[in-house]
Amino acid sequence: MRQVLVLGLAVAALSARAADAPPLPYEAKAKHLGVVNCASSLCHGSISEWKGSNVLQTEYVTWSRVDKHALRANQVLRNDRSRRIAANLGLKQPAHEAKICVDCHGHNPPPELRGERFKAADGVSCEACHGPAENWIKSHVAPGASHEENVRNGLYPTDDPVALARLCLSCHFGNKDKFVTHRIMGAGHPRISFELDTFTQTQPPHFVADDDWQKRKGRWDGVRVWAIGQALAAQESLDVVLDPKRGRDGLFPELVVFDCHACHHPMSDTRWKPRVGTRPGTIRFNDANLLMLRQIVRRTYPADAPVFNDLVLQLHKAVAGEGGDAIEAARRLRKGLDSVVAKLRLREFDDRDLRAILAGLVDDGLAGGYGDYAGAEQASMAIASVLNFLARRGSLPDVRAANAALDRVFETVKDDEKYRLERFQSALGGLKTIVAR
Ligand code: HEC
Ligand code: HEC
Ligand code: HEC
Ligand code: HEC
Repeated sequence: MRQVLVLGLAVAALSARAADAPPLPYEAKAKHLGVVNCASSLCHGSISEWKGSNVLQTEYVTWSRVDKHALRANQVLRNDRSRRIAANLGLKQPAHEAKICVDCHGHNPPPELRGERFKAADGVSCEACHGPAENWIKSHVAPGASHEENVRNGLYPTDDPVALARLCLSCHFGNKDKFVTHRIMGAGHPRISFELDTFTQTQPPHFVADDDWQKRKGRWDGVRVWAIGQALAAQESLDVVLDPKRGRDGLFPELVVFDCHACHHPMSDTRWKPRVGTRPGTIRFNDANLLMLRQIVRRTYPADAPVFNDLVLQLHKAVAGEGGDAIEAARRLRKGLDSVVAKLRLREFDDRDLRAILAGLVDDGLAGGYGDYAGAEQASMAIASVLNFLARRGSLPDVRAANAALDRVFETVKDDEKYRLERFQSALGGLKTIVAR
């Protein structure tokens, strides 16, 4: 009872904040002007970094040359795979014109909110992440303009990890408006994998969180970004379960929130092993993000860990028909996550936190906690991020050996269909001896 109260209080504090969450760029009611307005060599299209400027000014060049969001995101809609997906789904339009695809593979604001120079073919363009520029384009270059003022004028706060997670996940998982369903996957869409910190680093980034960035925008803590990304991703999955429209497809629940490989493997390959909260012959909720959160909560808020673990267990049990109502369990866990996020926003992570989280991930893995591919995949990305943070802080004595051991871990999660827990565990064992040195 006491523990439930602890979670409840934080939830009340958070509902106020959720209400004033900024609209996502595609939801905002202002005009989208188009990339050409950002691309001048005096603005963000310089080929070399400007000394003495707050920002790199090369953002457009990075984005247009190496970022998959530019052009490519949209061009893939014209390839054979997309043609096949569109045909299998029976879409009336080709993929590159179909809203269901362009909403994610491009920037697709309503026609009345497109400026004269807006071009749909630009793909996931600047304003798809930074928000429609109509009301901030002038003021953001005015002398002395602050980041807060820009945000007040409609710049999307990509520096805030919660806002950032909502933004990236809106396409890298989906939300109430756009979503890769199991039907779309069944038609041939690839499985989507995402981890906020890793993907922010590989986008590739067109910003440097240096001293001046932190002065303008606050501290950038990659571990916090990772942790909040996990919580928001888990919430997005639970939202699917809770949404009467998205949650069901005919007789069955929407399948993308479950572990893909629970269904997708040959029948001759009998691999089931007992695990807490699951039963043979049942499908499992994809708990990859929840497994990461288990580590995060255990380290950062140990007093909350029993409640959190119990909420997760109740969900697994209800899904497997072992008692309780699954919708109710999903609702309670989702609420509990609100309070985790509220606390994570304020948390800073030091070297000891990093080492404890790393050890927790490795030990959970060695104990067989990542039997499903999706969990092993998230754990690998998390371990890589944590090692990377430690290395950047100069707290990893043998970076070369750690990298080599990490490569061996990644080798075991390269192909989801060939994933074997034993191989993953043995690679983790190698990593453990190196980082423990
Ligand atoms: C909720 C957002 C979303 C929707 C809706 C969506 N996609 Fe995607 N799609 C993605 C993301 C994100 C990726 C990249 C996955 C990755 O690499 O991690 C992707 C990848 C792809 C790829 C593989 C791209 C490559 O580089 O190999 C194809 C092809 C594709 N999508 C086609 C489609 C088609 C056709 C539709 C419409 C029926 C569609 N998508 C709807 C988000 C979406
Ligand atoms: C997929 C999302 C995405 C796209 C597309 C994108 N950005 Fe960004 N941008 C980010 C993120 C995330 C950050 C880092 C957080 C921050 O500084 O707010 C960022 C930061 C920036 C910054 C601030 C750097 C600083 O030091 O304060 C500028 C300037 C910028 N982007 C310009 C652009 C331009 C110009 C384009 C288009 C050519 C673009 N961005 C496209 C996500 C995106
Ligand atoms: C409007 C939708 C949209 C938004 C918002 C978005 N992405 Fe993407 N992203 C895509 C699509 C679609 C692709 C796949 C492009 C392709 O492979 O053709 C992609 C690809 C990527 C890739 C390359 C993945 C790979 O397999 O190589 C990274 C990294 C990435 N996104 C990171 C981010 C991050 C970080 C954010 C948030 C700051 C973000 N994205 C926001 C749609 C989006
Ligand atoms: C409850 C079981 C179940 C789960 C969980 C599940 N699927 Fe499926 N999947 C199916 C069934 C049934 C089909 C249809 C098979 C057929 O038509 O032969 C299918 C079809 C597919 C296909 C097309 C296969 C083909 O033969 O063309 C793809 C791709 C796919 N699923 C991907 C996924 C991904 C990715 C996930 C996880 C995010 C997932 N599935 C989760 C049961 C499941």
